[in-house]
Amino acid sequence: MGLKATDKFATKAIHAGSHVDVHGSVIEPISLSTTFKQSAPAQPIGEYEYSRSQNPNRKNLEDAIAALENGKYGLAFSSGSATTSVILQSLPQGSHAVSIGDVYGGTHRYFTKVANTHGVETTFTNNLVEELPQLIKENTRLVWIESPTNPTLKVTDIGLVSQTIKSLKKDIILVVDNTFLSPYLSNPLNFGADIVVHSATKYINGHSDVVLGVLATNDKDIYERLQFLQNAIGAIPSPFDSWLVHRGLKTLHLRVRQAALNATKIAEFLASNENVIAVNYPGLPSSENFEVVKKQHRDALGGGMISFRIKGGAEAASKFSSSTRLFTLAESLGGIESLLEVPAVMTHGGIPKEQREASGVFDDLIRLSVGIEDSDDLLDDIKQALQGATN
Ligand SMILES: Cc1ncc(COP(=O)(O)O)c(C=O)c1O
Repeated sequence: MGLKATDKFATKAIHAGSHVDVHGSVIEPISLSTTFKQSAPAQPIGEYEYSRSQNPNRKNLEDAIAALENGKYGLAFSSGSATTSVILQSLPQGSHAVSIGDVYGGTHRYFTKVANTHGVETTFTNNLVEELPQLIKENTRLVWIESPTNPTLKVTDIGLVSQTIKSLKKDIILVVDNTFLSPYLSNPLNFGADIVVHSATKYINGHSDVVLGVLATNDKDIYERLQFLQNAIGAIPSPFDSWLVHRGLKTLHLRVRQAALNATKIAEFLASNENVIAVNYPGLPSSENFEVVKKQHRDALGGGMISFRIKGGAEAASKFSSSTRLFTLAESLGGIESLLEVPAVMTHGGIPKEQREASGVFDDLIRLSVGIEDSDDLLDDIKQALQGATN
């Protein structure tokens, strides 16, 4: 009995990639063996040969990711950054890439400090939709979108970017980093992306205890090339981590929906508070690009991430973030527990002030990763910290 094409997200999350083993185990065991028996030279008795090339737990996770992203193929890597690296290493020498300006700092670092040393140059733009046709060059091979962006949560119309690329009839792949929304809230492949990537460290695993990356695609050639590199480079996740992430994603729909509902309540409160200068939250009808959110996100939900500017500058931001009771001051996001951080001095501290302020990362910006604790308790925590920091 397998999944049907019409099965909904929650059913796929629970069953995709899950098999009953020879003992009837409802949850498949963790397969730690690095090598697999062969009956004659080059004739493995089953599907597997050597665990870097493929492993039962990684295969289950990859199948589940493909199903949740409406893709034919999934691949898992040792981190989100390793996933990015393998995609960029698949480009020919001398390629050009166009990326949204406001990408995750590690992705920016890879483009500007690693990919360029392998002959891949990148142009960044904060207005991708409008500027893309002028930025495409003869050697452009890749367009990179992160939506919503980190930490200012700007949403990009993936369909529009995909149409622009297709109209140019060039050999360009569109990659979307969907980490902030998770496959539950949006499926970029449905809007024309060629590859969707995730730091599964965040929502997909959801429990802040595994670093891992995944991608999905519908394109067989892209899949085969990336699978070749996955094995050749060897940046693969362990069986245990693959198993943990597979376990985590079975509750993705419940966790992400609750986080988004909690975040909506907090964002609405912040938007009406006199000590808040501005709120970035894609789920607010007043947010920029809400029309795109309605089209691209399940039930127009904004996800669990919010950023806001507090009155009182860097000092107030620091005071606020040190005085919450339930929100823990820490980097990362997407776990069941609520976290907060000050991007200007933490995740985005390495970006020159002028450059980061141009994309909205001011010293007074606070980023929240809203977890799935009780929403009233979370709101009370935000209220007391805001009052303490601004009075
Ligand atoms: C949007 C986004 N993409 C990619 C990454 C990199 O993922 P990892 O930390 O799993 O390498 C991160 C990490 O924070 C991220 O936030």
